[in-house]
Amino acid sequence: MAVKHFLTLKDLPASDVLAIVKRAIELKQFPARANSQARKTLGLVFEKSSTRTRVAFEVAMNQMDGNSIFLTSDSSQIGRGEPIEDTARVLSRMMDCIAIRTFAHSTLEKFAEFSRVPVINALSDDFHPCQLLADVQTFMEHRGEIKGARVAWIGDGNNMCHSYINAAEVFDFQLSIACPADYEPSAELVDIHKGRVSIVRDPVLAVKGADLVVTDVWASMGQEEEQLDRLQAFSGFQVNPELMSHAADRALVMHCLPAHRGEEITADYLDGDDSVVWDEAENRMHSQKALLEYLLSEQV
Ligand code: CP
Ligand code: NVA
Repeated sequence: MAVKHFLTLKDLPASDVLAIVKRAIELKQFPARANSQARKTLGLVFEKSSTRTRVAFEVAMNQMDGNSIFLTSDSSQIGRGEPIEDTARVLSRMMDCIAIRTFAHSTLEKFAEFSRVPVINALSDDFHPCQLLADVQTFMEHRGEIKGARVAWIGDGNNMCHSYINAAEVFDFQLSIACPADYEPSAELVDIHKGRVSIVRDPVLAVKGADLVVTDVWASMGQEEEQLDRLQAFSGFQVNPELMSHAADRALVMHCLPAHRGEEITADYLDGDDSVVWDEAENRMHSQKALLEYLLSEQV
């Protein structure tokens, strides 16, 4: 059987991705139903910082009686230049699944090419599919089916935005993107999904009638030096009460976190009673547990 990887949401059949989200909802209610992963080891190879993604994977493996090993480039031979394909060959002979957080998406693809076991994208410069499992879980818990919903992305056309574009197809919702010129998502990706995705320059137009409004930091990891330029470019793209007054009644607001209060989102929104960002963060654990269960059970 071919090894299944999860580098983007579109690597798995859409019905399987939806099933993973539904299983996450079930495992949150009934944690004891999770399949045992005893004697299985998850590798976590992280070249960028993380709180949620790492902890979610480690806790999920722990709760399923499995084990995880955390590696950074500095603490491994990756930082001293060992080729990624050699690292993949070696780690995948010892471990049962490997999650990688890195810069270039091509690094993940190369790793997966040489891995004998499933590889998970724990965030690359281009995609963050694990976050979308949690976001969709959170939407479904609060509002029911996401199919047919209207979603607005406000801000940078970054890795999260790209994963929302893929999600629009996988989960069958409409996505309006408001981003400044020069900070648009991949034109190729938008074109592939043009039936469900549109770029609307104006944030007010993008949120009009939206059931879900999503934002993210204006400068992602690796773009710290652009922070000041980006503050200027994104100044009209803040998610705040005025903008949200144009969305549908009871529209949800999500942010993958970490957030910069007062930049891409106001503190009152993030910390308000209606905020679902803490459920969203918690759901990283439940959804990554469901993902691990799925990928580990696919192994012969
Ligand atoms: N949202 C998210 O991926 O958070 P971390 O960077 O803390 O893992
Ligand atoms: N776009 C952000 C997401 C962090 C979880 C980044 O890549 O830094």
